[in-house]
Amino acid sequence: MTIELNDSQRVTIDRLAHGGDGIGYLDDGRIVFVSGTLPGEVVDIEVFELKKSFARGRIEEVVEPAPQRVASQCPYSDECGGCQFWHTTYENELRLKTEAAWEAISRISKVEIPQARVLEAPAAIRYRSRVVFHQKRAHRDKRTGALEPNKIGFYRAQSKQLVDIDDCMITNSLLNQVRRALEPALRDVGDCDIILETASATSVMVTLVPETNYRTNLPRSLKAFMQSVDQNPMIRGIRVVGKNEDVIYGDIAVDADQILAHVPVHAARLGSGDFRQSNQAMNRVLVDEVTGHIKASGATSVLELYCGSGNFAFAMPESVEQIVGLEVSAAAVESADALARLAGLQRYTFAKANLDKGLVKTPWPGAEGFDLVLLDPPRTGATTVCQELADAEDGPSTIVYVSCDPACLGRDLKTLATGGWKVDSLTLLDMFSRTSHIESIAVLTR
Ligand SMILES: C[S@@+](CC[C@H](N)C(=O)[O-])C[C@H]1O[C@@H](n2cnc3c(N)ncnc32)[C@H](O)[C@@H]1O
Repeated sequence: MTIELNDSQRVTIDRLAHGGDGIGYLDDGRIVFVSGTLPGEVVDIEVFELKKSFARGRIEEVVEPAPQRVASQCPYSDECGGCQFWHTTYENELRLKTEAAWEAISRISKVEIPQARVLEAPAAIRYRSRVVFHQKRAHRDKRTGALEPNKIGFYRAQSKQLVDIDDCMITNSLLNQVRRALEPALRDVGDCDIILETASATSVMVTLVPETNYRTNLPRSLKAFMQSVDQNPMIRGIRVVGKNEDVIYGDIAVDADQILAHVPVHAARLGSGDFRQSNQAMNRVLVDEVTGHIKASGATSVLELYCGSGNFAFAMPESVEQIVGLEVSAAAVESADALARLAGLQRYTFAKANLDKGLVKTPWPGAEGFDLVLLDPPRTGATTVCQELADAEDGPSTIVYVSCDPACLGRDLKTLATGGWKVDSLTLLDMFSRTSHIESIAVLTR
């Protein structure tokens, strides 16, 4: 049977793919991905993308819904590609995500993975304290010729088409309020990314990344934008990112308690460009969990890799006498260092290091001398460092690996296993409710 683009097909959803799409099979045997579906459901779909080995379909009708299907609470969920789980109960989302993560980690690592402990989010909505909106100026659609208005929002799934989002349900109310307040002033700025992050309980730091690069001279539209928000108490500062240098307006420091789970000194502040976990409530759960593992290990010296501005470091148990934090962002290292000095804390050393090149090139060429290595790499994982930790003959007896990507974690656990490292425990934490993402903590010993 030949299937053409835009054909309708009835499919049964077999399972969920990494990323949350349902997987079914077309009548010609080709695998088809359908977002917004659940295992066991029978759906009529329109095939909107057809490749040799797979297809994508969109729901025309849910013919046999799963018992866990619910009406979405988010008015944008049919169009917006930001979230993947508004069509089911939170309990079912958590079950599907954690089963998929455990399966991916086991399959890719090819080692024995213990049953995961699952920590659910205290709040599944309005949790984001950092968000990146995209703005696309009003334009004529090349295909249809229709006039598209100025939009600020998120992309559709698998697309660069923007969906205008007035109120994102997983973003905190303050950030949504600021997005709405900025809209008229931003209209003349043109295509850009708009990063909003809470700077204090009542104010927001705005970073604009315009599509058009400029050097030192701000275009008039951006100057007007900055002046127009000058009197807005909800905005603490604005940074406009330029090719060679940024233009800064107002105060761009952020209260440290908006970025770190535990702040060593009252009223401390950090640079606004430092990495931050986007779910503050769940970040506290994550940090307490990690530091609990460190305390239980009995370690007195910790090498922390990808340490950011000290989210875990400043929460280390008193029993840890020496903490060395390595991180590629000079700004984050400077923030962490300044905070340690301000608080008069002696046990910390922070240093800049590009860990893609491995520990060999850092001021701490190996992990020897440390009881425990804690690592929290970006989504791409920590290939080189894990190979070094596998190859090292002496050194730490415990690794605590924090990961936001189960597939990458699986790959790195496979590498570590070649050096005799065994996974003692796995914890899965729902840092990103309503989306397909999940955070994991693996504790390894040898
Ligand atoms: C997932 S974040 C974790 C940060 C910190 N643990 C926290 O909880 O805030 C990953 C960190 O790795 C840093 N990073 C990214 N690539 C790196 C590299 N090649 N070498 C060292 N650090 C890197 C980022 O700047 C970021 O701070």
